[in-house]
Formats: sequence, C-alpha cells, structure tokens
Amino acid sequence: MKADARPAQARTATHWQRFSVPYEFPVVFTEGVFDPENPALRDVLCRLEPAKRHRVVFFVDDGLGAARPALPESIKAYAERHRDAIGLACAPIALPGGEKIKSELHFVESIQQTLFELHLDRHSYVVAVGGGAVLDAVGLVAATTHRGVRHVRIPTTVLAQNDSGVGVKNGVNLQGVKNFVGTFAPPFAVLNDLEFVLGLPERDKVAGMAEAVKVALIRDAEFFGWIERHMDDLATFERSAMAHMIRRCAELHMRQIGQGGDPFETGSARPLDYGHWSAHKLESMTRHHVRHGEAVAIGMALDARYSVLAGLLPAGGEERICALLEYLGFSLWHPALAKTGDGGEWAILEGLKDFQEHLGGELTVTLLGGIGTGVEVHEIDVERMRRAMHWLKARAAG
Ligand SMILES: NC(=O)c1ccc[n+]([C@@H]2O[C@H](COP(=O)([O-])OP(=O)(O)OC[C@H]3O[C@@H](n4cnc5c(N)ncnc54)[C@H](O)[C@@H]3O)[C@@H](O)[C@H]2O)c1
Ligand SMILES: [Zn+2]
Repeated sequence: MKADARPAQARTATHWQRFSVPYEFPVVFTEGVFDPENPALRDVLCRLEPAKRHRVVFFVDDGLGAARPALPESIKAYAERHRDAIGLACAPIALPGGEKIKSELHFVESIQQTLFELHLDRHSYVVAVGGGAVLDAVGLVAATTHRGVRHVRIPTTVLAQNDSGVGVKNGVNLQGVKNFVGTFAPPFAVLNDLEFVLGLPERDKVAGMAEAVKVALIRDAEFFGWIERHMDDLATFERSAMAHMIRRCAELHMRQIGQGGDPFETGSARPLDYGHWSAHKLESMTRHHVRHGEAVAIGMALDARYSVLAGLLPAGGEERICALLEYLGFSLWHPALAKTGDGGEWAILEGLKDFQEHLGGELTVTLLGGIGTGVEVHEIDVERMRRAMHWLKARAAG
C-alpha cells in the first residue's frame, strides 16, 4: 500500500473529551455515633437509597479498640437496631493503628482480599473507624476496589477530625516515602464524634491542635484570636472549646478544598501546608516518634521566625505564635533538629527539596504575611533559614 503522502499535521485529528463531575459529601459533627438512638450514621448510609438495606463492612483501628474494648459490640448493636437499613457483611474487623498500617502495601492487598471474599460491590459501604493512618489505608482500598466502593470515614483523633479525615486524599507509604501510593478520592460521608477525641491520650489531643493553629495563622485571624482567648480551656481539653476548635478547623480545611480552586492539587502549591516542609522531614528523621502535629508546631515556629527575618511578618509575631503553642503544650525543639549532614549543613533543610519533589513543579512554601495571612513564596534563602534555626535552638536553650 502506498504511504499517505500528506504532512503529519493533515493526518492528525484531535477530539476533545471534556466533562466535569460535581462532588459533594456530608461532614457530620455528632456525639455517640454508635448510640443506637443516634440516627446520624444510618442517615448518611441511606442518603441515596432510603428504602434499601445496605451491606456494610466496618474496619476498626486496633489502638482505638484497645481504648474502647466494647466498640465492636456497640457497632453490632447499632446495626442490629437499624437492621432494616444496615446489614453487616461480617463482624467489625480490627486493623493495626498508626503508621504501621501504612508502612507496607500488603495490608492494602489483604484488605482488598477481604472485600473480595465478602463479595462487596460498588453500592456497598466500607466504613473506617480510626486515626488518620487507618483512614488513609482503608480509603485507598475503597478507592481501588472495583475502582471505587463507597467509603465512610469515622475519624477518631483530633488531627483526623479537624484536617485529614475531612479531606479528599488517601495513601500509604512505599520504601519509606510517605504517601507514595495513593489517590484523590472524596469519601461518601464523614462523621466526627467528639467522644472519641475526648478519650484520647493527652499527647494526641495536644498534637492535633497544631492544625487548628496552622489554619488560623494562614486563613483566619479571628480564629487565632479565639484560640488565644480560649487557650486555658484548650490546654485542659474543655469539651465545648475542643468541639469548636475541631469544627472551625475542619470548616476552614473544607473551604480550601471546595473553594480553593485546586482540590486535587494539580498545581505546585500546598496552601494549607504552612510549617509542613520541615515537619515532614522531622517526622521521618525521628522515624515517626514525633507526632505529625508536634512536628508541625516546630515547623510553624521556624517558618514564623523566617517570615520575620524575610520582612513579611511584623517582628514580635513569631513570639506570640510560639507562646501560644507552648501554652497549648507543644515543645518547640527536638534533639533531631540539631543533626547535621555532609558539610555541616542542618539535615532538616533537606526537607525543602523533598517537599518540592512530592508535588513536582516549582518550590512553593507558605509563609506568614501577618497573623491570619498566608503568603506563598517560591524561594527560600538558605542562610536566612539557618538563622531562623539558630534562633529556635537558642530560644529552646533558654
Ligand atoms: N489524607 C490526608 O489528607 C492526610 C492529611 C494529613 C495527615 N494524614 C495522615 O494521617 C496520619 C496520622 O493520623 P493521626 O494523627 O490521626 O494518627 P494515627 O492514625 O497515626 O493514630 C495515632 C495512634 O492513635 C491510636 N488511636 C486512634 N484513635 C484513637 C482513640 N480515639 N483513642 C485511643 N487511641 C486512638 C491509633 O491506633 C494510633 O496508635 C499520617 O499517616 C498522615 O500521613 C493524611
Ligand atoms: Zn498537617
């Protein structure tokens, strides 16, 4: 056959496929989610097909299970009370809580195997009850099994309720790289139960407050003022103060995802990740002995000082931020921060490169232009950051 002699352009036709899919999901704030008389969970499961009996499998964080041994029985009793609407595919299944579940891909595969054996279909529900790590791993399973099974999250830590659990991401780690395997997949619904967080160990209650301070600092001066005015209540985990802190923080995260223009983070910016470039590095340098929130508190103090040195944040702002964080119970230094690498450079500074690599594109770091105002910059002056590190270290030494 004779070759087509027309130029390549004439032999090429491009048909554009274009559609958009609206997403919506409820984030419900409640207390006693498995109290048989509380309709919140039933209502979200029945949201689309009110008359149907839904197949549901529950995965429960074993750290939460250890703190609340009666939980599996409560879930069964709830399903029994609502048996016209909820059919348990099996008894609640315990999963290892914390970073362990995210550390190896085989957990994801074995949960998928379970869903296969239970013949779960795309209209069934996978409900995850636990901390952010269990939600991330189960979320990835739900998003990839049958290309997407309905996923309901019941976050049980402060961080998961006020930040990660209300978001649209999931993921697990690979070869030590955080969240290397994951997807953007909005959940079917989120239910935040205050009772779970009030029962957490103190250290975890404190750690989760870092995200509230963070989002207040970059988005909402009024909320920052509220946290300052209620720091006594927050430092003692007073019920209504905790409830408001979680709710406002979750709301501000939801607003960013819903209205920020880039819910699936295709750009180079991570507008909500103030204080996070060094936090991620510190977490991995300490093999997660430092909690995410604890690392973020340190990262915020560091970047607040840098913001002052860069002439963005009026001097004194960094002290105000540090004083609040310390009052809430955070320590703003960790021995691992003193580590140096080749040539005597602070090892933590490698976090800037890692931060950029996760997203690709231009380096984008959020700094402070004032209390309540985040400012994105694309360049970090390393010498200035070294000075901020020295300041933080000297401050900790008293
Ligand atoms: N998907 C996202 O958008 C996103 C965002 C930020 C963080 N994350 C991820 O979230 C994870 C951290 O989540 P986390 O801070 O919720 O901690 P976590 O999930 O690591 O849980 C911490 C510990 O608390 C236990 N636990 C959970 N709830 C409990 C309760 N009510 N009572 C007693 N113990 C309880 C767990 O078993 C675990 O041992 C990280 O893996 C991080 O990468 C995800
Ligand atoms: Zn965070």
